[in-house]
Amino acid sequence: MTTDPYKAYAILDDANRGAYWHDVSKSWYVTAPGQVRKMLGDRRFAARGASPLDEKAKVCSRAHYVVELERFLGMWPVFSDNDAQRAASQALRKFFSPGRAETMRNDLAATFQRVVNKSDCTKLVATFAQPISEAMLSTLLGLTESETGRVRSMTEGTIQYLSNDGQDTVLAENALTQIEELEAWLKARTELGNDWILSALSDAGVRLTLRELTAVYMQVVTGALDPTSNAIAGGLITISRSPEAAGFLERKDYKGLTNYCLGQDTGFHFAPRRAACPVSMEGFKIDEGDRVVGVLAWAAHAESEGRSQATVTTPSLAFGHGRHFCLGANIALVTLEESLRAFFEAYRIRDIDVSGIERIPALGASVYTDRINFR
Ligand code: HEM
Repeated sequence: MTTDPYKAYAILDDANRGAYWHDVSKSWYVTAPGQVRKMLGDRRFAARGASPLDEKAKVCSRAHYVVELERFLGMWPVFSDNDAQRAASQALRKFFSPGRAETMRNDLAATFQRVVNKSDCTKLVATFAQPISEAMLSTLLGLTESETGRVRSMTEGTIQYLSNDGQDTVLAENALTQIEELEAWLKARTELGNDWILSALSDAGVRLTLRELTAVYMQVVTGALDPTSNAIAGGLITISRSPEAAGFLERKDYKGLTNYCLGQDTGFHFAPRRAACPVSMEGFKIDEGDRVVGVLAWAAHAESEGRSQATVTTPSLAFGHGRHFCLGANIALVTLEESLRAFFEAYRIRDIDVSGIERIPALGASVYTDRINFR
């Protein structure tokens, strides 16, 4: 599964008419592109849902960490959807516009060139894909390199908790300690007034509590970092194996190459939701509280197969669909395009060494890592 999840997705898709109940994880997996779009556009699948530990919390004192962390995650727009979150999403969507992504392009290109110049492409993730996603985040948020490192480390506990599918009290306790640190750091930035995201929110008149602000900030950081470095690593692996990629490179068509790579292997594999009420979908009976997972990686792949880029009119499912469509898609596209350009101005396809790369499943994505030297 971690070597090539697409083979497993194809089998799932073939055998189950687009949706599959997995008894071990107690989840539905939806693979057909049309159904994934339908499910992500359906408000009945929007909620993360109450933690089963709410009840246990009454008898187990440590479980309150999980409950508190779940409450924090409930402030992420993708997991629930109150007025404050909607207003914050709208303000950020405006802020992350195509125009803004274009104004970042030259800066990003110059920074990525510096990363490539000091890279050694035998360790694609540690020396190239990961630093590039951090460089993008620094440019986006106006942070220095060391601040970006700090922000990344203050979000790792939450990622770890989510990667273990929640419910782990020790991971929850650790994540909450880091959330408090991030909150204190953000409070100082709010007082200084030098943060672009915070300014974008206050310019739009969005008033959030410090905890809500921390949740929004955390979602931007976690949304930006791993999916982007995954997409870069996955893209380079795709290019090293696919004869079609050479044509894009010969034409120096980095935009086409970016879309092609996202269709082959996206940086974000699963969009999980919970059914807020019983739902009947294409003949499947989904019970209230069931976990329903859109397999974006397969759906985006299936949609892009056999289509020329010129005929693609809908945004790629690689970035999700509906109200929670990726806020950073414009910035991610420019980042991918410029990172591939910087890389292939310095290296050729045959220079890419993917032997040290493996996938590890995390956060509903499939994360790439070099076996050595990872964090
Ligand atoms: C190639 C890189 C990226 C990929 C493949 C990707 C993919 C996605 C996907 C699939 C979703 C929807 C998740 C769901 O519905 O459950 C999402 C949401 C999100 N992404 Fe991205 N993303 C990327 C880069 C970025 C960047 C660079 C940023 C920040 C600048 C970002 C910020 C977000 C945020 C904040 C959300 C949540 C939106 C909401 O809940 O309304 N992403 N992303």
